[in-house]
Amino acid sequence: MKFFSGSSNRVLALKICDHLKVDLSPMEIFVFDDGEKRIKLNDSVVSEDCVLIQSTGIPTDTNYMELFFILDALKRSGAKSVTLVSPYLGYSRQDHVFREGEDVSLQVIIKILETIGMDKIITFDLHSIKIPEFFKTPIIHLSALELFAKKIKEFDNFVLVSPDMGGIRRIKQLSELLGNALFATIEKDRDLKTAKINASKLNGDVSGKIAVIVDDILSTGNTQAKAAEILRQNGAIKVYSFTTHAVFANGAGDVLQESEIEKVFVTDTIEIAKDKRFPKLEIISVADLIAQALRN
Ligand code: R5P
Repeated sequence: MKFFSGSSNRVLALKICDHLKVDLSPMEIFVFDDGEKRIKLNDSVVSEDCVLIQSTGIPTDTNYMELFFILDALKRSGAKSVTLVSPYLGYSRQDHVFREGEDVSLQVIIKILETIGMDKIITFDLHSIKIPEFFKTPIIHLSALELFAKKIKEFDNFVLVSPDMGGIRRIKQLSELLGNALFATIEKDRDLKTAKINASKLNGDVSGKIAVIVDDILSTGNTQAKAAEILRQNGAIKVYSFTTHAVFANGAGDVLQESEIEKVFVTDTIEIAKDKRFPKLEIISVADLIAQALRN
């Protein structure tokens, strides 16, 4: 089996290889002056099962184009199979038509990937339960929830919180992992055109408890900063947050650092540049879970 990594998440790729005691195969990713890229594999893949590791956080489009080109290079160079490890799949939030006339970005991405020809995909905490059904290719859908549960167990007197109604299934799953832990939900009302959050309402009792927000994606940080504010106003003694994908749009670090959240736990499904890190941030690695999935 041969392993290749795109440039979006090389640190995670190296960690996965470390767990599996394998090396990354050499590959040239040449960037022309105008930003276009060219790929050249510097290892033979004829009749080989290959693994391609590439996440698609910011810059999403650039990372996707690179992924398409590496996948193409692998297929046309004779790889027997390609397992794509894409821990974060960008565009997952546009998984259906919210308002008449919209596109379904995620369906377009999947069509392109399947047309080029991946044979299996491994990914994490997809935005909705329906997404795996969009794939014709076999999909291994992993979750960071068990890693989160291990940390959350250390808190006394906690209540789990979903910062929007879309996260209910996730919060129920985590509650079960933690022996039916208490949970609360926040009804978030987002303007569909501007994506701004209009209002939020808490359902459940958090008074005198440690509130633990759990979500799939952190982008601007506004959802969680607002949620933390409401939780504190309703008597939560402390607020922590656990999120799988640290997309971190510009300014998210400041929003989160200045928020009522004590500590912001995220995973490394997306590589977080040094200038996007902040003192409250703690990163949990998913490398071991991916290595286990590949071993199986
Ligand atoms: C939305 O449905 C997601 O689960 C996240 O809550 C959302 O993407 C977070 O975005 P932001 O950090 O920009 O508020």
